[in-house]
Amino acid sequence: MRVLIINGPNLNLLGKRNPEFYGAKTLEEINGLLKKRAGELGLEASFYQSNSEGSLVDFIQAEAPKSSAIIINPGALTHYGLSLRDALGDVSIPVVEVHLSNIYAREEWRSHSVIAPVARGQISGLGWMGYLLALEAVAADLQKGKPV
Ligand code: DQA
Repeated sequence: MRVLIINGPNLNLLGKRNPEFYGAKTLEEINGLLKKRAGELGLEASFYQSNSEGSLVDFIQAEAPKSSAIIINPGALTHYGLSLRDALGDVSIPVVEVHLSNIYAREEWRSHSVIAPVARGQISGLGWMGYLLALEAVAADLQKGKPV
């Protein structure tokens, strides 16, 4: 089974960008760890990052029908990306929203997610481990054939 692991705007700069919020690991390092764990869980992970909302929508439209779950950190699109939200709302597979930082403990505008209502769940503030925990939850769901 295939899991899409998607990152939105500016997350290509992980490792250099505000490490006090986003940690020291690069996106490549995080994706390497996720790929390894996905393999152990019997899942295939497909990775995508874009700084453009339209490209994210195109990727979701093309790949979600061939996949079993989506793990996404939408970056700042979390707070206003309505076409991304519609694309995620239109898929028939579970979506888990991940944030490295605790979006509820920062500027007020970050505490509203337009993605959350179409997500199966959200993990915020646990750094790169949030992606790993999302992968564990998705794997448990897929193994059971229904939400854990
Ligand atoms: C983020 C939080 C967003 O508010 C921010 O715009 C990001 C990263 C996070 O992972 O904590 O780009 O999604």
